[in-house]
Amino acid sequence: MTRTVNLPGGTALPLIGFGTWQLRAKSAYESVRTALEIGYRHVDTATLYQNEADVGRAVKDSGVDREQVFVTTKLRPQDARHARRALESSLRLLDTGYVDLWLIHWPTGRDELVSTWQELLSARDAGLVRNAGVSNYSPALIDLVTEATGERPAVNQIPWSPAQHDPALLEEHRRRGVVVEGYSGLKNTDLRSPVLTEIAQRHGVTPAQVVLRWHLEHDIVILPRSSRRERIAANFDLEGFGLTKEDVTAIDALTRTG
Ligand SMILES: NC(=O)c1ccc[n+]([C@@H]2O[C@H](COP(=O)([O-])OP(=O)(O)OC[C@H]3O[C@@H](n4cnc5c(N)ncnc54)[C@H](OP(=O)(O)O)[C@@H]3O)[C@@H](O)[C@H]2O)c1
Repeated sequence: MTRTVNLPGGTALPLIGFGTWQLRAKSAYESVRTALEIGYRHVDTATLYQNEADVGRAVKDSGVDREQVFVTTKLRPQDARHARRALESSLRLLDTGYVDLWLIHWPTGRDELVSTWQELLSARDAGLVRNAGVSNYSPALIDLVTEATGERPAVNQIPWSPAQHDPALLEEHRRRGVVVEGYSGLKNTDLRSPVLTEIAQRHGVTPAQVVLRWHLEHDIVILPRSSRRERIAANFDLEGFGLTKEDVTAIDALTRTG
């Protein structure tokens, strides 16, 4: 069981999700099957990734109960004017009945920000998606859509890694009750950094596991992506060790030192 965080509607969001960007067709299907077999219960896709059908088929074929898997997809901003149609296409491809979280992949032009957010809320009210959120939004944009509709995004999916660690930004999200999902945490990290390799050696794990565990210490949802079974497994195996307070502080400081 992975740890979860509760979204405003009461849904439990597993802190470890499986990322699927750049995984196409067979590779997306097989990687998601492997992830679900290993124990992941959260899968992150997007219309842009062109793998919704493969992801959905993997969820179905996995034999894991649909209700047990948290599925996220994302609306491309260029589809904002036809948001409901884009969602219906995602649902057809995924064939999962509903999605657990629908995100605006990145901000639209300013004049469409509020109307697009309203589209996401109305899809949620219609029961097509269980939660609505955003991605690549600043706190100011989150405030703009929240003030216009009285409803805040459940989640903001943004880049996060030791080099990009920003406690003030994290606090801005906490204050607003918006869950932070961090993406590209491995890709944007030098896994040969002496700080990470020393900590990894001491705990008998890999630097990638240290980086992912560090996100969890900050209650940031992670979405590691891999097409290799051993890495998919290692990226999920984060509870068998703990980081000390000093470890976390040293990794936080990579923002300044690289
Ligand atoms: N909302 C957005 O705008 C946005 C943008 C980017 C990403 N995302 C989401 O976030 C997910 C994660 O981000 P990402 O795919 O950019 O990058 P990532 O998961 O940080 O890194 C993926 C890369 O790291 C390698 N890797 C995975 N596990 C590893 C390990 N244990 N040790 C060493 N290398 C490892 C993978 O290679 P192998 O496959 O060879 O293992 C792959 O090249 C995406 O898949 C997507 O779902 C969202």
